[in-house]
Amino acid sequence: MATSKQTFPISLKHSALFQQACYIGGEWIQSDSGDMIDVDNPANGKIIGRVPDCGSAETARAIAAADTAFHRWKTKTANERSELLYRWYELMIEHTDDLGALMTLEQGKPLAEAKGEVNYAASFIKWFAEEARRAYGETIPGAKPDQHIVVTRQPVGVTCCITPWNFPAAMITRKAGAALAAGCSMIVRPAEATPFTALALGYLAQQAGIPDGVLNVITGKPKPIAETLTSSPVVRKLSFTGSTGVGSQLMAQCAQHIQKVSLELGGNAPFLVFDDADIDKAVEGAMASKFRNTGQTCVCANRFLVQDSVHDAFVEKLSEAMKSLKVGDGFEEGVTQSALINRAAVEKVQQHYQDAMSKGATRVYGPVPEGKNGNYVEPILLTGVTPDMQLCHEETFGPLAAIIRFKTEDEAIRLANDTPYGLAAYFYSQNIHRVWRVADALESGIIGVNEGAVSNAAAPFGGMKASGLGREGSSHGMEEYQEIKYLCMGGA
Ligand code: SIN
Repeated sequence: MATSKQTFPISLKHSALFQQACYIGGEWIQSDSGDMIDVDNPANGKIIGRVPDCGSAETARAIAAADTAFHRWKTKTANERSELLYRWYELMIEHTDDLGALMTLEQGKPLAEAKGEVNYAASFIKWFAEEARRAYGETIPGAKPDQHIVVTRQPVGVTCCITPWNFPAAMITRKAGAALAAGCSMIVRPAEATPFTALALGYLAQQAGIPDGVLNVITGKPKPIAETLTSSPVVRKLSFTGSTGVGSQLMAQCAQHIQKVSLELGGNAPFLVFDDADIDKAVEGAMASKFRNTGQTCVCANRFLVQDSVHDAFVEKLSEAMKSLKVGDGFEEGVTQSALINRAAVEKVQQHYQDAMSKGATRVYGPVPEGKNGNYVEPILLTGVTPDMQLCHEETFGPLAAIIRFKTEDEAIRLANDTPYGLAAYFYSQNIHRVWRVADALESGIIGVNEGAVSNAAAPFGGMKASGLGREGSSHGMEEYQEIKYLCMGGA
C-alpha cells in the first residue's frame, strides 16, 4: 500500500509535487502488480514514501506512449518546443523551495545545496529551450557544378535515460532538456533512492503543457526496465549516468539494435597544485571540488597531488578551511556535509581510510570514520598517500581528501593520468606556459584551470577513456539526440 500523503514528513507549499505514481503517456499510474518500493531518508533511515515497482510490461507501455508522442512532438516548430521548455523551466524556479526540500529528504544533501541543484537543473532546461531554436544545418559546395549539398538535423526518435541518485534533478534535465529540444520524446528511469524529485519534475512538465507521452517517468527495479528499453528497436537512444561497470553492460545491450549511447561514468579526478599556484585559491577550489555534495560527485577531486615545496602550506590551509564544514541533517541550518546515501557508501570511505592507513598514510584532520552515527562521515584529510593505495584507483565518493606529494611536473602528469578514468581534472598554476602544457597533457574531458567548480549548462560535460562517451550541456548536448541527414541536390 502507498504511504498516505498525511504521513509525509515535511510540508510542501504545493503538495501535488509529491507523487507516488509513475507518469506514463500523460497519466499517473501504479504498477500492474500493485507492488511498491520504499524510499527512505538517508539521514535517519525513515521511510518517506513509496513508488510503483514497474517492470517490463509498464516499460513497454511507456515506449509505446513515447513513440506516439514523438511523431507529434517532432512536427512542432522549434519555437513551440522552446516555449514549452521555457515554461517548464519557469515552473521549476517557481517551485525551488519544494523541489529542494524533496531532494534533501530523499537524497540527504543540505537544503541550500539542494536548492542550488534545482537552479542548476533548471538552467539546463532554459539552455536547451534556447538551443531548440538553433538546430542549424549546413550547406556544402557540391561535387559537380549543378549540385548542392545540404545537411539537416533531425531528432533520433524515442529516447530513454537512466539517472543516478547524487543529482536527482540535474542529471535528468541535462538529458531531457536536450532530448525534448531536439524533438525527441523520452522515458526517464530515476535511481531507486531518489524517485520523488524525478516525479515532481514530471508533474511540472505536465503543468507546463508538455504533451502527454513526450516525457515519461517510470520507477522500479533497474534490470527489467533497462532490459526492456535496450531490447526495443523503437528506442533509438540511451543516456546513462552511473558506474562504468553498469555503463559498459548497458552499452553491450544497446548493441543489439544499434541504439545510440551517451555514457557519463565514473571518475577519479586528480587535483594538482604546483609550486607556482596561488595557494589560497587552490584551497578554495579544493573545498568546492572535494566537498560538494559531501564528496558524492563524479567530478569531485579524488586525489590531491601537491608539489613538494608547497605541500605543507597547502595541507595546513586545507585543514584550517575544513574546520568550516558542518556535518548533520541536511535540513539543519548551516550544515554543509550531509549523511551519505547509504551504509555501503559509508563502508567504502572506511575501507579506503583503513587501506590507506595500513599502507602508511597519516590522518591530519578529522576523526577515524567509525561509522557509528548512521550514514554520517566526518571530513578527513590524509597525507602521505601513495599510488598503491586503493583510494588512488577508485572513487571514494565521500568526504575524504587524500594528498600525494610530487616533485616534478612530469611526475605529476604521469600520476594524474595513471587511471582508466578521464572525466575531470583540476590544476593550479600561475605560469601561463605550464597552464597550456598541463591542460594539453591531462587525459580528461573537463579541466578546471585555477577553478574548482566546473559544472555549467553552457559547457560540454563528459569524459574520456572509461569515463564515458558523448557530451551533455552546451550546443554539443543536443547533437547527441540528433541524426545528421545529408541531401545531395542535383540538377540545379
Ligand atoms: C555527476 O556527479 O555525475 C555530475 C556532477 C555535475 O554535474 O557537476
